[in-house]
Amino acid sequence: MTRVFVFTNHKGGVGKSTSATNTALGIAGMLRRAGAPNSRVLLIDTDSQAHATLVTTGTKDYGTDNSLYTVLMADRQNAAQTLLNCIVQSTWDADLHVLPGSPMLEGAERELMGIAGAPYRLADPLSRIINRYAAVVIDTRPSFSLMTEMGLIAATDAIVPVEPRYLETVGLMSVIGKINDIREGWRQPNLRVSGILITKMNTRIRGHNHLLDELKTHTVLGKLLVGIIPANEAVSYAHQNHQSVFNYDPQAPASKAYAQFVGKLVQRIAKGGV
Ligand SMILES: Nc1ncnc2c1ncn2[C@@H]1O[C@H](COP(=O)(O)OP(=O)(O)OP(=O)(O)O)[C@@H](O)[C@H]1O
Ligand SMILES: [Mg+2]
Repeated sequence: MTRVFVFTNHKGGVGKSTSATNTALGIAGMLRRAGAPNSRVLLIDTDSQAHATLVTTGTKDYGTDNSLYTVLMADRQNAAQTLLNCIVQSTWDADLHVLPGSPMLEGAERELMGIAGAPYRLADPLSRIINRYAAVVIDTRPSFSLMTEMGLIAATDAIVPVEPRYLETVGLMSVIGKINDIREGWRQPNLRVSGILITKMNTRIRGHNHLLDELKTHTVLGKLLVGIIPANEAVSYAHQNHQSVFNYDPQAPASKAYAQFVGKLVQRIAKGGV
């Protein structure tokens, strides 16, 4: 079964798109270096801001005919073929493919609201073509909207990026509760909360260290911690240049931390289990 990693948190600006894009590239590179027979990774952008699309393809000029919107609006019989037609190669790596997001997705939520089966409009066609990929990574918008629900329903592993200043236990527990609601409510036994990824960590800020210590000792959340990405200006520079942080500066602290995190995900892909 191809693992589908969805990065989600209804808080804005916590590093969902940064993590989704760099993780997708990192998985492709790591699998290739390990000699895996298939190292192709598909990045799906479900956010109408299309930031992940912009940095990985150099444009967010996708819409009615060539984006995730097209797939969602397609006749259900043709949806899988439409999805294949809309996938583009990223500018980052030949093995990193992108199903682009689009500003049109904003309207798609309204257009699809109330249509039977709407939440499955991504999961269904994706399941029919997923064998072509070693892994899929989904970026979501900062809200629990229909688009995010679609991303979660299509996924096997939910990863929650969170800044140390937002680490309130209550907030995190509610995100995890929401993901578990999707799992139960939509009968998606394959979906699970697979990890909490701390982003923009600054060890010189006492509050950050304090919150991290609290998280580590929390009975539920402590076990879910899968990585800590330092606050690092290389990330902003990489964004400005539409580059991955690995490519911008492989030795940057954020690159090393993302590589470590990706290593854990690749181990899971290889094991096929937890
Ligand atoms: N580790 C980091 N160090 C420094 N800056 C970072 C780091 N990670 C992300 N950023 C910056 O934080 C901002 C938000 O990041 P990003 O777009 O990935 O968050 P997001 O959760 O996807 O946002 P949104 O909720 O709007 O989709 C960006 O300007 C990005 O460059
Ligand atoms: Mg984003």
